[in-house]
Amino acid sequence: MCGIVGYVGSRRAQPILLKGLKRLEYRGYDSAGIAMFTDSGLMVTKCAGKISCLEQLLTGDPADSTHGIAHTRWATHGEPTELNAHPHADEKGEIALVHNGIIENYRTLKEFLLQKGYHIRTETDTEMLVHLIRFNYKGCLTEAVRNALAQVDGTYGIAVMSSMHPGVVVAARMGSPLVIGLGDGEHLVASDVSAMLEHTNKVVYLEDGEIATVTADDYRITTIQNVQITPQIEEVTWTLDQIEKGGYDHFMLKEIHEQPTTLRNAIRGRLNFEEGIPRLNGLNLQYDQLRKIQKVIFTACGTSWHAGLIGKYMIEELARVAVDVEYASEFRYRSPILGKNDIFFAISQSGETTDTLAAMREAKQRGVTVLGIVNVVGSTMARETDGGVYIHAGPEIGVASTKAFTSQVMVLSLIAGLLGRMRQLSPQAGQELIEAMQKIPDQVEKILKSSDQVKKIAEQYYRANNFLYLGRGINYPVALEGALKLKEISYIHAEGYPAAEMKHGPIALIDENMPVVVIALKDPVYDKVMSNIAEVKARNGNVIAIATEGDTEIAERVNHVIYIPETNRFLTPLLSIIPLQLMAYHIAVMRECHVDQPRNLAKSVTVE
Ligand code: F6R
Repeated sequence: MCGIVGYVGSRRAQPILLKGLKRLEYRGYDSAGIAMFTDSGLMVTKCAGKISCLEQLLTGDPADSTHGIAHTRWATHGEPTELNAHPHADEKGEIALVHNGIIENYRTLKEFLLQKGYHIRTETDTEMLVHLIRFNYKGCLTEAVRNALAQVDGTYGIAVMSSMHPGVVVAARMGSPLVIGLGDGEHLVASDVSAMLEHTNKVVYLEDGEIATVTADDYRITTIQNVQITPQIEEVTWTLDQIEKGGYDHFMLKEIHEQPTTLRNAIRGRLNFEEGIPRLNGLNLQYDQLRKIQKVIFTACGTSWHAGLIGKYMIEELARVAVDVEYASEFRYRSPILGKNDIFFAISQSGETTDTLAAMREAKQRGVTVLGIVNVVGSTMARETDGGVYIHAGPEIGVASTKAFTSQVMVLSLIAGLLGRMRQLSPQAGQELIEAMQKIPDQVEKILKSSDQVKKIAEQYYRANNFLYLGRGINYPVALEGALKLKEISYIHAEGYPAAEMKHGPIALIDENMPVVVIALKDPVYDKVMSNIAEVKARNGNVIAIATEGDTEIAERVNHVIYIPETNRFLTPLLSIIPLQLMAYHIAVMRECHVDQPRNLAKSVTVE
């Protein structure tokens, strides 16, 4: 959740590290710090707050150094203060370290270090690690790191430097991603490729239990047991403009508007019109294996979990296969029942979410086929699954997930279509689904044009303290997702509910101050939803309806209508979510919230 960047080469390190940190700021943004190697030793500068604060501190001090490490933090142990910010240094100020993850046995280590006479200054778990490295130091930094890590339980991605070893960065990984960027006469180390895209697209991903010793001209990877590893160099296809705002005020707005393109990318080459069968070769499953599947299990967190829930509605009806959708954090501690013909899918934008990763490993251990629906190529999940489908949404920088969600849903519709055709769906029904999928990107483009209308509605309600989102059937998870979008970026309390459940409790909340967003599309539950709308209106609630184009009748029964085009009913979530994303965005801007970096959140949750 925090971001790490390290540089060793011949150029000035400070601007490279600061720019890299800014690229990573979406991963954590409560405090930041940098350690540079200078003629007079290590120079560590830290601050509470964003990277811009760090920049202000550094302007008067242009350290001419070609070697350093830096960090942007999302606090786990200890408040986001200057003292607790990384890098942490040993007592002599000769070794500095940045860390992502959690040292679980830090209390035991603290006692050990106190006994050995070390002084602990911060509230962090990370500080133990730097003292431990010092304790193990006998002349070789890599060896000191290796021996220290042998005493550590928990997760880490670390970068370490020392004034005793100019031009060396030692990096190690256990559960928190780290990647080495290979430049010409220079190397970078980062928790995310976006920090290095400006300098190189050639990378080596570290695996768990690996330690890298990186200099300007060389890098050497060994395991924690000191076995040498032959690195596998990979090429990153993401481009620089994909990680920049491109004229938009916020990444979130850019990403909302990218959806026609990202949805086209999600289906490109995957639609077989003739047979009405989606093509998903990455699943690595033969048709007869697909026919034998007894149960599908989706595990995910947050927005990705909502996508999984939509997948359940699609697959159960189109393919008649039972689907369980589990919060990853629950799955792993619940002793779930898995059969040998079950298929497990991890759904994750980042491919690094700790809970999802742990659930996936648990399923793997129990012998079921484990597949991924992942965005980030080369991420841990992508590498550890038996197969899967990339959603090809490109880098998602806004903390609130938008384009990844729609691409996940699109991929799930492909999977549902494929399983359906293997079981009970006629070629004609398969073709109709595929034809509808192909129209979706243009339809999303059309809905995006209603942004100003959504903004006007937002103007009326942005001061509300509570919102209710209602939907039924396949649009119930959209109600959940709409509510999540609003609460995470505008800090308005919002709840998503199945529309009919409202009368079993939440109806008590409804009055003239409660905006109620209802997804009321022309589908088999339309009349039922209209009754639910009547129940809200009878209690003076203000209803904002998402309705199907051509439904003029609904306009008379609600306060506001936002229309979306008609599509195959299984694909409606791909359209109905768009106005809800726009509404959350406009409301957050009106409330002057930090849209791309909402408080307390971070992109890619790599702690439990
Ligand atoms: C909400 C959001 C989070 C993520 C969740 C899972 O907008 O982004 O709820 O969906 O943390 O993240 P991934 O998909 O990376 O596993």
